[in-house]
Amino acid sequence: MSTKSFAHRRLLPVLAGGLAVLAVTGCERPPMDAQQTGFRGVALEQVTNPRIQARLAAANVAPDPLPPAAPVPTPASAVYQNLQILGDLPLTEFTRLMAAITAWVAPAPDDCSYCHNLENMASDEKYTKVVARSMLQLTQHSNEAWKSHVAETGVTCYTCHRGNAVPQYVWTTDPGPAQPSRFVATGQNIASPTVAYASLPFDPLTRFLDDDHPISVVSETALPEGYGQDIKHAEWTYGLMMHISDSLGVNCTYCHNSRSFYAWDQSSTARFTAWYAIRHVRDINRNYIWPLNDILPDSRKGPLGDPKRVACVTCHQGVNKPLLGAPMLKDYPALATVTGAKAEPAPAATDAPPAAMIRTEVEAAPTAAAKVSEQAAPQQPVM
Ligand code: HEC
Ligand code: HEC
Ligand code: HEC
Ligand code: HEC
Repeated sequence: MSTKSFAHRRLLPVLAGGLAVLAVTGCERPPMDAQQTGFRGVALEQVTNPRIQARLAAANVAPDPLPPAAPVPTPASAVYQNLQILGDLPLTEFTRLMAAITAWVAPAPDDCSYCHNLENMASDEKYTKVVARSMLQLTQHSNEAWKSHVAETGVTCYTCHRGNAVPQYVWTTDPGPAQPSRFVATGQNIASPTVAYASLPFDPLTRFLDDDHPISVVSETALPEGYGQDIKHAEWTYGLMMHISDSLGVNCTYCHNSRSFYAWDQSSTARFTAWYAIRHVRDINRNYIWPLNDILPDSRKGPLGDPKRVACVTCHQGVNKPLLGAPMLKDYPALATVTGAKAEPAPAATDAPPAAMIRTEVEAAPTAAAKVSEQAAPQQPVM
């Protein structure tokens, strides 16, 4: 026996041990749960890992609401000088909301002083207060104009912030690794958590959740025609889909029937909700976050000087409904509808879907949630 092969034999158990460790850490340990979510025989199903589900459930608990405020006739504006959004709230409800916001965004040791000069509460000298005012509008607008996505569950500051001044899961445009060759980064094959470490373009978010490039793979013509029909777009699309699945903690087949990822009439209702969600997030980023860029300090920006923005993960954090669907909004009605005199940014979801995406009536009427259910209903597969 040559020393060489002997050395190999001694290495084998070490290798096998190493592989076993890899297998255990790289994969999810069985048993898994599988649940059919569509009509039997179709490929709409969810495979879940009960251990991961338990961890996610523990991490997504909504805080208890503050006790209701005693009703008073006095509006907050009768007492305070500089209320542009919340002036009509009863005084006690206003104070309760300030306490809630503090717990959601700037808990102790920061407290009220995170946004306020305590000597002069009316002053807007802290940028955080000015940002918070826009955030109030962002939240109200999301709840009023995007019921097609957030339903009656709605969102509060906590949905994104969870006790942090800057939400934990935010993103900025990823310039990619520095290229010593000075070739422009191709945007690919860099293991990035944004796309769940798949070998796909590492920043689909700028393209799809900030800009509105077409999200498509299947071409409607024999040969790809026009913008958005090439392989590059297919890869960007898959990158976004990885982000969506990962953020919601669901399989692709939560939304798509794997016999046709393209066909809306074979998709689940969740895919329709996701269509609105994509437009909702674009609206947030463009109309509420970007306009703040001038007042945000550099420490709040990405390497290219852009603001930290919202993606699916910002709210969902690994579950299909943020905080597992806990309806926090109902306890804070001040956040349910847009108030205040300040001019509202452009209304929601008027961006017409790119021609290539118009396949069903549902896409032609993107603003009205009611219309979706009417029009989409006959096309849903029988569940
Ligand atoms: C995350 C930022 C933030 C925190 C934290 C915060 N506030 Fe405010 N506060 C605001 C904003 C924004 C306004 C203005 C709302 C508007 O324009 O309608 C405001 C306005 C006020 C006003 C009215 C001042 C005036 O005369 O116009 C009072 C009083 C106030 N807050 C009290 C508090 C108290 C007390 C706390 C702590 C329990 C607190 N706030 C914590 C953002 C914050
Ligand atoms: C859709 C998610 C979302 C919701 C809902 C939301 N925020 Fe934010 N908020 C953000 C993001 C993203 C940033 C980071 C912007 C940046 O720094 O570039 C931010 C930043 C802030 C900041 C600046 C903090 C700092 O230290 O720079 C304040 C203050 C704030 N939000 C208050 C609020 C309040 C108050 C509410 C509820 C009325 C709220 N936010 C609701 C996403 C959200
Ligand atoms: C939460 C729902 C949801 C999940 C999960 C999801 N998708 Fe999608 N998918 C959509 C929506 C919505 C669109 C259409 C987007 C648009 O038109 O703006 C889409 C579009 C697509 C398309 C383009 C089809 C065409 O028109 O050519 C492909 C391919 C696709 N998804 C693949 C996947 C894959 C692969 C996964 C899993 C990694 C996945 N999707 C997970 C909602 C989802
Ligand atoms: C501002 C917070 C927020 C963001 C950001 C967000 N969502 Fe949601 N989403 C919600 C809330 C709240 C619900 C629960 C609505 C309900 O109770 O039906 C929800 C529900 C959904 C559902 C329905 C799930 C089900 O099981 O029926 C889908 C699908 C979805 N979101 C997709 C997305 C996608 C895709 C993105 C990113 C493009 C996204 N969401 C970003 C707040 C958010």
